[in-house]
Amino acid sequence: MARIISYMNRFVIVAAAASALLACSAQAQIQQVALPYALDALEPEIDNATMNFHYGTHYATYVNNTLAALKNATDSGVRLPVATSNLTALISSIKRLPSPLNTTIRNQGGGAWNHALYFKHLTPPGSPATQSTAISAPLRDAINANFGSVDNMTAALSAAAGKVFGSGWAWLCYTGNSSADLAITTTPNQDNPLMGQLPGAPAVSAAGCTPILGIDVWEHAYYLKHGPKRPAYLESFWKVLNWQQVSKNYDSAVQGLELDLSEAAPRALEAPSKAVSAGSSSSGSAGFGAMAAAAAALLAVV
Ligand SMILES: *[C@@H]1O[C@H](CO)[C@@H](O)[C@H](O)[C@H]1NC(C)=O
Ligand SMILES: *[C@@H]1O[C@H](CO)[C@@H](O)[C@H](O)[C@H]1NC(C)=O
Ligand SMILES: *[C@@H]1O[C@H](CO)[C@@H](O)[C@H](O)[C@H]1NC(C)=O
Ligand SMILES: *[C@@H]1O[C@H](CO)[C@@H](O)[C@H](O)[C@H]1NC(C)=O
Ligand SMILES: *[C@@H]1O[C@H](CO)[C@@H](O)[C@H](O)[C@H]1NC(C)=O
Ligand SMILES: *[C@@H]1O[C@H](CO)[C@@H](O)[C@H](O)[C@H]1NC(C)=O
Ligand SMILES: *[C@@H]1O[C@H](CO)[C@@H](O)[C@H](O)[C@H]1NC(C)=O
Repeated sequence: MARIISYMNRFVIVAAAASALLACSAQAQIQQVALPYALDALEPEIDNATMNFHYGTHYATYVNNTLAALKNATDSGVRLPVATSNLTALISSIKRLPSPLNTTIRNQGGGAWNHALYFKHLTPPGSPATQSTAISAPLRDAINANFGSVDNMTAALSAAAGKVFGSGWAWLCYTGNSSADLAITTTPNQDNPLMGQLPGAPAVSAAGCTPILGIDVWEHAYYLKHGPKRPAYLESFWKVLNWQQVSKNYDSAVQGLELDLSEAAPRALEAPSKAVSAGSSSSGSAGFGAMAAAAAALLAVV
């Protein structure tokens, strides 16, 4: 416990220093999504300690490593087929990226994209967006057409998530097919269906589809609270899923638009949090993500 506290103190100090540095460099680059809620706001379904490590360390490290690899590539004069600021384009273009960047974007860039989707579509338990009435009419129609009912879809997605062997993700994914526009699929590690079929991984069903809902089943998402009980985490997950955000993701996917993974947090949902406000007086929005990304550099080596 003392170790955890000392990590958090260091995190706060580094975050404060990083915020000063980052204030000077405001060019567009990949960064963590701001949390539209406080780190402890998903209690009791997802605990504060899990959120601190998951958002503040694991996710931050994926973003940091992605930025470092992109910087290395451009510093080395490597020409890339897509903008280094566009994470969706990067992970969708794995096959066109040079080695070794392709592997780093697969693992670290995948981790950055997947966690952006994940954290952005969670919300405090009991909030209106967690109710199934928050599902938009178009998404509800699509779910009914593809799975019979919302309950059937969530049961099928939970079953798929339960069967992922080791670390990985279960997805509700937009295929673009008129006959079956939603599919459930899973990927290992930080792979993402947008990457298509990948070397050394089992075949991905509906490869190329756009995830609109993602369940992280890495142990880092639940082990501190639930130990090995993944089903208990899955039950908690549905209680903090933001259906309004999933509906927005569906709309974007249908229109062929990139999912907006960086949009600032809606003010109304923001609550003051000790965890977030400890590092800086201007916390709670984009700044925290960038600070956390920078702070991860130090955290990851302690
Ligand atoms: C940095 O980029 C160069 C050129 O692509 C590559 O050879 C090298 O392995 C990269 N280093 C790391 C740590 O990725
Ligand atoms: C990023 O790439 C995606 C996929 O290629 C594309 O749809 C989107 O328009 C790009 N975003 C920007 C801001 O260029
Ligand atoms: C990256 O490129 C190398 C060389 O072309 C290839 O062997 C490897 O399978 C690629 N990795 C991915 C993830 O596509
Ligand atoms: C839900 O799934 C069950 C089991 O697969 C199936 O029997 C049932 O018909 C489905 N419900 C609807 C409304 O499609
Ligand atoms: C539906 O789309 C997915 C890709 O999103 C593709 O893998 C699959 O073959 C398509 N199925 C049909 C029947 O077109
Ligand atoms: C959440 O965790 C942070 C970091 O350890 C801590 O500062 C904060 O007091 C915790 N909040 C609650 C409600 O336990
Ligand atoms: C974070 O990025 C910096 C460079 O931007 C790099 O020196 C450092 O090793 C990275 N840390 C981790 C844990 O990847």
